[in-house]
Amino acid sequence: MPDVKTPMEPFRIKVVEPIALTTRKEREELLKGAGLNIFRIPADKVMIDLLTDSGTSAMSDNQWAGMMLGDESYAGCRNFFNFEASVKDIFGFAHVIPTHQGRAAERILFETLVRKGDYVPNNIHFDTTRANIEVRGGRAVDLAGRAAYEPDTPHPFKGDMDVAKLKAFIEAKGKARIPLVMMTVTNNSGGGQPVSMKNIREASQVCRRLGIPFFFDACRFAENAYFIKKREKGYAGKSILEIAQEMFSYADGATMSAKKDALVNIGGFVTLDDDTLAEKLKNALILGEGFPTYGGLAGRDLEAVARGLREGLDERYLEHRTAQIAYLGALLEAGGVPFVKPTGGHAIYVLADRFLPHIPRHHYPAWALTIALYREAAVRAVEIGGVMFARKEPRTGKEIFPELELVRLAVPRRVYTASHLAYVAESLVELLANRDKVRGLRIVRESPFLRHFTARFEEI
Ligand code: F0G
Repeated sequence: MPDVKTPMEPFRIKVVEPIALTTRKEREELLKGAGLNIFRIPADKVMIDLLTDSGTSAMSDNQWAGMMLGDESYAGCRNFFNFEASVKDIFGFAHVIPTHQGRAAERILFETLVRKGDYVPNNIHFDTTRANIEVRGGRAVDLAGRAAYEPDTPHPFKGDMDVAKLKAFIEAKGKARIPLVMMTVTNNSGGGQPVSMKNIREASQVCRRLGIPFFFDACRFAENAYFIKKREKGYAGKSILEIAQEMFSYADGATMSAKKDALVNIGGFVTLDDDTLAEKLKNALILGEGFPTYGGLAGRDLEAVARGLREGLDERYLEHRTAQIAYLGALLEAGGVPFVKPTGGHAIYVLADRFLPHIPRHHYPAWALTIALYREAAVRAVEIGGVMFARKEPRTGKEIFPELELVRLAVPRRVYTASHLAYVAESLVELLANRDKVRGLRIVRESPFLRHFTARFEEI
């Protein structure tokens, strides 16, 4: 039997927000109006929203108190210095440049470093890093190990990069064409799986030997550090802060979307050591985001990040956070729902093609599952499969599907309790029992890029 223990929330609830109740009939109507696309459903018609863990965190009383101390001066507001101090204490780099969210940090970094024809290796790029590289004519290359694509392999660090491949890739392309190497922690596009300290150290050594800058995409660094503490030899006695500091000591800089592990609703930054590069990034920032002491954020937002970054390192919180995901996983396992193993840091990734074996890939089983889950249970999840990632063969227009056909159940931080998650698990188990009724889909309208946000479907 799977080990199902209730993960107790290490906080009590001071402010509540009612959740909407809808009838099945109402949801059927809403789906029809939305062209069977859950991105087009109003959020207040969703009972449990697992679309993303980004920007959806509940802030603490300490963070809300900090927001009242917002200093909204254009230049040099006090909250910037608190923000800078938090980032420096954890990351240890000389320069801290705030941005309104992660992709803005990526944009100024890649705009400055990437030229047409360059390559940027990563374990697996998130869509926005990929897009920000490709829009400049660069090529985003994924070099995760094989285990990242094997949903049943119980590897403790499936986010790891294949360092031998990285070395061979750099030798083949030449270091002049590789302006930086990135490492995404945890590896969101590969199941939210962590990267080991050993792998970080080895990838860093390859880059340092050749003088190639090594940067983190650090959105979920605290969850990654927690997994290192629990799973990697030699780290059990270290604090999360010490582990994070060691991770970043191997790098030259990082971009971060604070909307994840900094427990805020908006914010991000780039942090790095190189003075010349920092100067260029600040100039790019002034053009698109704002003066370097606010970078597209209000003073109160900077304060919330300053406090949230420190709260995100709290071990009791991280223990609960990862236990919550494991708890949802154990309930699904007990009910026979197939998903990527082991459970990662922020989400469960359901294997939709196994869940709905009667729906072929070209009828989008993962998308069909998100529709069924909303229709039957008012739960919103996100498809990470054929609709989001299929590439079209240029000559024939035939779709080439990604290796995995997934539905991600991303759990917002400090928002839902164990009973909410039990409801999600029960809904999926019930859906599994009635899966024959779920129908595949065809696309009736789509845009030429990022089609998942706007496409419309009909059931077959
Ligand atoms: N890098 C990773 C690994 C991410 O997961 C995200 C966002 C970003 C960068 C971009 O950050 O949204 O602040 O601009 N991921 C969200 C998600 C949207 O749902 O996984 P952003």
